[in-house]
Amino acid sequence: MSEARTRGLLVRNLRPADFAAVIELCRRVYPESRPWTVVQLASHLEVFPEGQFVVEEERGGAILGMASSLIVRWDDYDFHAEWREWTAAGLFTNHDPANGRTLLGAEVMVDPAVQRRGIGQRLYAARRELVRRSGLRRIRAGARLRGYHRHAAELTPERYVERIVRGELRDPTLSFQLREGFDVVAVIHGYLRNDPESLGYAAVIEWLNPEVARPEDSAGRDPRFRRPEAG
Ligand SMILES: CC(C)(COP(=O)(O)OP(=O)(O)OC[C@H]1O[C@@H](n2cnc3c(N)ncnc32)[C@H](O)[C@@H]1OP(=O)(O)O)[C@@H](O)C(=O)NCCC(=O)NCCS
Repeated sequence: MSEARTRGLLVRNLRPADFAAVIELCRRVYPESRPWTVVQLASHLEVFPEGQFVVEEERGGAILGMASSLIVRWDDYDFHAEWREWTAAGLFTNHDPANGRTLLGAEVMVDPAVQRRGIGQRLYAARRELVRRSGLRRIRAGARLRGYHRHAAELTPERYVERIVRGELRDPTLSFQLREGFDVVAVIHGYLRNDPESLGYAAVIEWLNPEVARPEDSAGRDPRFRRPEAG
């Protein structure tokens, strides 16, 4: 069980008593999508309790954010697979700690009423700490391109991502993840069904654990998505 307290906020692992609050949170964050179900959340706790985090307001006990993850052997998956495949339809029953070296971030969300106050950063810090503690090689996740629908008429998704990486455009999700130390390794289509913001496009993003990463882990990345500061 991992816990961290700062400024009235507690980052801790998910508990069954949080399920209703997490489902409500999901409805507020994604009003047009189906929220997580009790069956899925219970499955996450059964297969990998240490990988499921929530941020709780200490006064009042409100759940303000959550992040869920599982461990996979990345070679078992195609970059261009759907989120459903990476997460066993959201059940995480493909969690494979014996063979996997990759923490797959399946979800991160913060209540829209309290976004841009550092809660997302706290959730990512908890994930990085878990990866370091477990000696895993990296975190990977699909970052849905939430602002792409505004540029789809004039930019391909790849050009959109190039411009985000260069800091010429801002995407509400990907820009945040880049600031959190992630790099883009691919742009994929058909990631989420029925997502009117991303139109199904996502960036596969990666954070390498500096304690165990080898040079070959980042070799061969698509130069189009290299950060300007990386040269
Ligand atoms: C992506 C998401 C999780 C970020 O959560 P968040 O709590 O808003 O994140 P933070 O507050 O830690 O950081 C967000 C931004 O606020 C800034 N920020 C943090 N604390 C701040 C403060 N006190 N004052 C002003 N800005 C602040 C951060 O620097 C960051 O800026 P950036 O976007 O330019 O990098 C949240 O926007 C969200 O839930 N989005 C919808 C769901 C989603 O798309 N999830 C990802 C699925 S792929």
